[in-house]
Amino acid sequence: MSRWIGTANQGYSPYAIEELRRLLPDMKATQLVAGEVFIFDTSLDREAAIHAVHSERPAFLRHMQPIDRVIAIHGDADDLQELSETARRAALILEDKRVSIHLRKVKATKYPYSAADTKALLDAVLEEMGAESSLQQPDVIMAIYAGESELYIGYGSPSDMLSDWPGGAVRFQREKGQISRAKFKLLEAEREFGLDYSAYRNALDVGAAPGGWTSLLLERGVRVTAVDPGEMHPSLANHPMLTCLKRNAADVKFQPGSFDLLVCDMSWSPMQMCKLVLDLEPSLAPHATAVVTVKLMHRKPLQTIREVKERLSTAFVIEQSRQLFHNREEITLHLTKK
Ligand SMILES: C[S@@+](CC[C@H](N)C(=O)[O-])C[C@H]1O[C@@H](n2cnc3c(N)ncnc32)[C@H](O)[C@@H]1O
Repeated sequence: MSRWIGTANQGYSPYAIEELRRLLPDMKATQLVAGEVFIFDTSLDREAAIHAVHSERPAFLRHMQPIDRVIAIHGDADDLQELSETARRAALILEDKRVSIHLRKVKATKYPYSAADTKALLDAVLEEMGAESSLQQPDVIMAIYAGESELYIGYGSPSDMLSDWPGGAVRFQREKGQISRAKFKLLEAEREFGLDYSAYRNALDVGAAPGGWTSLLLERGVRVTAVDPGEMHPSLANHPMLTCLKRNAADVKFQPGSFDLLVCDMSWSPMQMCKLVLDLEPSLAPHATAVVTVKLMHRKPLQTIREVKERLSTAFVIEQSRQLFHNREEITLHLTKK
């Protein structure tokens, strides 16, 4: 038996819960933040629950945090006292480890302290215990979720929690002159799917304008062919590694095997996107990678995803399908050409 806090993108927790129900026996969920955060119980123990979730990673579950301890919130310094005690009692889990402290709070929480204050306090406790406080690549995360009147505390590796970011909310620094926010989606896909765009030589970017994805691939040293009837950003004009085709993607044809990477971020219906990607498939080299966003246009995202996967699997291995933190009404697929 184990207890967890699950998190999905705003509005998508019902789908994350539905996916978990299929994976975990006797799963029960209660809402913490409408549409986003929920507590779930399963009859599986912690390791078995982690194994089940990893074996078929749900598309909509962004983060899961075990609940190892619950503390009633007092709303004063007693809360800090109890948190310190809790960390000390977890010495077996924390000592000699690199530890990150993650704090998330619901809006209406009675817990009065900021993440920075909480971290400063617990870092001092960690130091006493011989643990190393670490923001990057921790062995263990001490995750604290401040509900309205209770603190839910859990320990686990970034892999157990599905992310090394608090709640799976991956934050990137916006750069000066960044062409579009869409760039973050492709960056997050690189991180989350374990890709390295610099390993590719020739990419086809379909639905490329204004050019956020194209600019990231160019920065990685990849030659890019960008297809879009819309305007690309002027900062990309005359880039020596870029070819722009100001055309509808349905009207372009390439030599067979021209590209080892296809990226596609068109706001099209999922089935039209499938047709387009399948039509372009011969232009891809064997085992080429594709990163494709799928719009979730109507009410049944799980069914849409099932249908899209079924169609694309005629030509591609579906490596992953996930709603990334930077995806809004969509998910991102990672595919490999068969
Ligand atoms: C969400 S934007 C892409 C943003 C881009 N990934 C970026 O990082 O800047 C979607 C783009 O798809 C393009 N698009 C829509 N239908 C298309 C088609 N049939 N062929 C090519 N591009 C298309 C639109 O013109 C639009 O520029």
